[in-house]
Amino acid sequence: MEDKLSSVAKNFTPSPIQELSHLAQRCNAINLAEGFPDFPAPPHIKNAAVHAIYSDFNQYRHVQGICDHLAKIVNEMHGLDVNPSSDIVITCGQTEAFAAAIFAIIDRGDEVVLFDPAYETYEACITMAGGIPVYVALDPPQWTLDVNKLTKSLTRRTKAIVLNSPHNPTGKVFTKDELEIIAGACCSRNCLAITDEVYEHATFDNEKHISLASFPGMQERTIITSSLSKTFCVTGWRVGWAIAPAFIASVIRNIHIRITDSAPAPFQEAALAALRSPVEYFESLRKDYKSKRDYIMKLLTRIGFKISFKPQGSFFLFAELPENCPLSDVEYVKMLIEQAGVVAVPGCGFFHTNLSLEKTSEPSSNYQKRYIRFAFCKSEETLAAATKKLDDLRML
Ligand SMILES: Cc1ncc(COP(=O)(O)O)c(C=O)c1O
Repeated sequence: MEDKLSSVAKNFTPSPIQELSHLAQRCNAINLAEGFPDFPAPPHIKNAAVHAIYSDFNQYRHVQGICDHLAKIVNEMHGLDVNPSSDIVITCGQTEAFAAAIFAIIDRGDEVVLFDPAYETYEACITMAGGIPVYVALDPPQWTLDVNKLTKSLTRRTKAIVLNSPHNPTGKVFTKDELEIIAGACCSRNCLAITDEVYEHATFDNEKHISLASFPGMQERTIITSSLSKTFCVTGWRVGWAIAPAFIASVIRNIHIRITDSAPAPFQEAALAALRSPVEYFESLRKDYKSKRDYIMKLLTRIGFKISFKPQGSFFLFAELPENCPLSDVEYVKMLIEQAGVVAVPGCGFFHTNLSLEKTSEPSSNYQKRYIRFAFCKSEETLAAATKKLDDLRML
C-alpha cells in the first residue's frame, strides 16, 4: 500500500536531527536545541487567554482588532500603509502563513530563492506546492550576501525570494545594503518577496529590524509573515499573520479558511492583549535576550568553540567547531548528548544543496558540517545547568 503515498510525502525522510532528539529524550538531556523559551509567558497575556476561555470564546473566530493593531504597528515601525480589512490574514502561526503564501503564488516549476543556511520548513512548503527551491549560500563566517551569487540564481522562472531576518540559525540581521540589493533584485526581475519576521523584536547591540517591505517598490510585492510565538514565549498558541497586498491576502485568506478555518479563538483574544503590550515589554525582551546571548557566547568560547559571528538577533548562536576537532557536527552533538547530557542542533540540517549541483555532483562545502546551533532562549536555571555540564566536559 505504500505506493499510495504521494511522491512529495515519500521524499520527507527523517533527518539525523530527529534521531538525535530521540537520543536526547532518552538521555534526559538539557535542551539547548529547540527555539522555544522554557520560561513562563508574560502574565498579562496569560490572563487575557484565561479570561477569553471563561468568556466562552470557543467557536471559530476572527478577531479584527488584531489586524487593526498590526496595521498600526507596521505603520509605526516600517512606514507601511496597510488596510487592516483587506491586507492582513490571521493564521495558525507563521508556519501556516508561510505555507498559505506559497500555495497562493507558486505554480509547478516556479523557482523560489532562499538564503542558505535556512530554516527547515520553507523547503517542504515549496516542494509540496510543486515549486523548486534555489539556494544562495551566504558566505561564512559573517554570513554575508554576495550580490553575484544572488544575481546568478535568478532566472525567468523565479517567482519569489524568501528572506528571514533576524535569521535562524545564524543570528544575522541583514544589513540595509543587503536589503537594498534584495529589493532591487525583486523589482528589476518583477518577482515577489516573502519575509519571515518572527524574530523582529529580538535584536541586539542597536541593530534594528528593517522590513524588506519598507523599501521603494516593495510593499506591493511583499508578503510579510510573522507571529506571536517568539516575541511572547507562546510557540504553542499558534497565532500568526500574513500581511500582503489585498489581491494576495485574499487568496491567502481563502487557503487559510480551507485548511484550518481560524486560529485558536481564545489565543486570538490574548494576541490582542499581547500586541498592545507597553514598549517596556519589548525593551526588556531585547535586554534579557542580549544578556543570554552574551552568557552563552562566553560559555561556548570557554569550552573551545570558535565564535566568529556574534548573533545580532534571533535566539540562536551558530558556533563553529575548531579546526582541531575531528568530529563532524552530527558526531559532536551525539557525544554532547551522551557525555554531557546537553543537546544542541547539528548545523548540517540548515544547509542545502541545489538540485543542479547534485546533478553535477559538485561537493558541498566542508563548512556545512562544522556548525552547531545553540538556542539561548532558556531560563537562567537551564543555562546554569548546561554550564555546569559543559564546563565539566571540556571536550574540544
Ligand atoms: C525562522 C522561523 N520562522 C518561523 C518559526 C515558526 O513560527 P510559528 O511558531 O509562528 O509557526 C520558527 C520557529 O522556530 C523560526 O525559527
